[in-house]
Amino acid sequence: AVLRAQAAIDRHARLVADFPSPGISFKDLTPVLADAAGLDAVVGALAEHCAGADLIAGVDARGFLLGGAIARELGVGLVAVRKGGKLPPPVVGIDYELEYGSARLELPAEGIAFAGRSVAVVDDVLATGGTLLAAARLLRQMEARVHGLAVVMELAELDGRGTLSAGLGTDVPVWG
Ligand code: PRP
Ligand code: MG
Repeated sequence: AVLRAQAAIDRHARLVADFPSPGISFKDLTPVLADAAGLDAVVGALAEHCAGADLIAGVDARGFLLGGAIARELGVGLVAVRKGGKLPPPVVGIDYELEYGSARLELPAEGIAFAGRSVAVVDDVLATGGTLLAAARLLRQMEARVHGLAVVMELAELDGRGTLSAGLGTDVPVWG
């Protein structure tokens, strides 16, 4: 499934120059997910990685698309890790630094039993690792166990994996 996913990405992903800022080459995964076989391959590969988790956490925004499909495939529940200000109170949040400025992720503070659950975190892209690190820390704050982190694509030159293992420990697998 992983090889089939890579083939679908190679075939359908689109490179966009100078987005989101000048000098950055953005790999757009939208056409991969719009293709039925591409979606199946990508979701299948991520679901293989996430197997064993008993809750999927999809990160705002493209992690939602993947997380929902993966959770359904594995027969487990789903939670959205939202950007700040989207969820009704009470929320628990974490602020983190981006390359430019800062951002915030939030989870519901009530209504979901996180404690002791094994949660796999899903997003589209691993870049610096700041987003996934914040999401994992937030889940740990809720006493969840982080089963692993799964992405469709990583920008290896930014060493997000290094940031994640430094911040979370080397026992949290990163799949991408
Ligand atoms: C992008 C991407 C990841 C994150 C990766 O999201 O979808 O979530 O950046 O970068 P990092 O590893 O350096 O944290 P972005 O915050 O641009 O917003 P979006 O998902 O809402 O488009
Ligand atoms: Mg994102």
